[in-house]
Amino acid sequence: MTATPAASPLRTIEVALQANPYPVVIGTGALGGLGEQIRQRGFASGTKVLVVTNPVVEAHYGAVALASLQAAGFEASTLVIEAGEDQKTPATVALIHDAAFTRKLERGSLIVALGGGVVGDMAGFAAATWLRGIAVVQVPTTLLAMVDAAIGGKTGVNHPGGKNLVGAFHQPRLVLVDPSTLATLPEREFRAGMAEVIKYGVIGDRDLFEALEAAGDLSSMAAVGPALLQTLLERSAAAKAAVVAADEHEGGLRAILNYGHTLGHVVETLCGYGTWLHGEAVGIGMVAAGEIALAMGLWSAGDQARQRAVIAAAGLPLDWPRLDPDAVLACLQGDKKVKQGQVRFVLPTAIGAVEIRSDVSEASIRQLSP
Ligand code: NAD
Ligand code: GLY
Repeated sequence: MTATPAASPLRTIEVALQANPYPVVIGTGALGGLGEQIRQRGFASGTKVLVVTNPVVEAHYGAVALASLQAAGFEASTLVIEAGEDQKTPATVALIHDAAFTRKLERGSLIVALGGGVVGDMAGFAAATWLRGIAVVQVPTTLLAMVDAAIGGKTGVNHPGGKNLVGAFHQPRLVLVDPSTLATLPEREFRAGMAEVIKYGVIGDRDLFEALEAAGDLSSMAAVGPALLQTLLERSAAAKAAVVAADEHEGGLRAILNYGHTLGHVVETLCGYGTWLHGEAVGIGMVAAGEIALAMGLWSAGDQARQRAVIAAAGLPLDWPRLDPDAVLACLQGDKKVKQGQVRFVLPTAIGAVEIRSDVSEASIRQLSP
């Protein structure tokens, strides 16, 4: 078990949805206050809580989470599921449903997702579907999940035909972010999370992008340091919260959060889940989207160079892998972002601005592959 660090003041960012607003609470040591935070969200003592986590996260943080829940009076227990993107399947969600059944979770019960985006997406989906929907609290322990996956209510699993094709919108009641849990995160995973932070800079926060440029080395938690890390967590959460509050179900604006993801999902799907981490694929997808935007005359070579430099500073790969262009095109057609047969791409037009376009030519996609 990992030692508990000194606590820092908690910062709260509101996801201001009209029907179901909720806070993203961020602070070092926050995990020790999980039970109290959940009580403050209106859950009574005695509520059944199922903590869903994976073996690695359970070993580091399971005991702290469970002790906090039990100290707050909850009837809490843990379910450990296998780690990894290849486990993000209906079969794993069925295991969570089985546990919900044997542990007699009721409509008023709660699932706590303790882990990265894989745990969060599956525990969230299990909560969305158990008894037609019970509450979920997201406790992300990867940078990627802290800045993106845990916020906004997208839950689901993969299908052999593509990423996240099976899922539901199910907003959490609370997102609790304890940056100190990142101390045990492998550096490759930290870098993958940084791709999503860079995304927020390119799609809408020029100041954030410039702060990333100024920071230089973004490739590890040690290089970034606690003060900048806190800033990146808060700005990213605020960026995501604002977009989600404006367009919860992705009727329009929210699609900009998919920047880098349309082509990133192709890389993940065609290379095999787990070959590239999700964030690495998103980094490659952002570079590829930048190349397409450049070819269409939408943005400048200078901005593409700046984007590449920040992605490289995060130690992320830049190059499109060797892929069969026909398979790429077929995979794009199977993606969720297809509307009336047209693939919609989020393309950059300047640092801090993107457009959603359905007029990307087949030729420019074919040109991505060597
Ligand atoms: P992940 O959940 O697979 O976690 C990465 C690895 O880090 C795992 O091996 C995990 O065991 C380990 N880990 C997690 N926390 C740790 C810690 N604190 N210390 C040590 N090891 C730790 O990957 P991820 O990058 O967090 O999430 C990727 C997933 O998130 C993808 O499936 C993606 O589709 C999904 N996602 C969802 C959304 C959304 O809006 N719902 C957004 C972005 C990504
Ligand atoms: N990660 C994209 C979204 O939440 O909409």
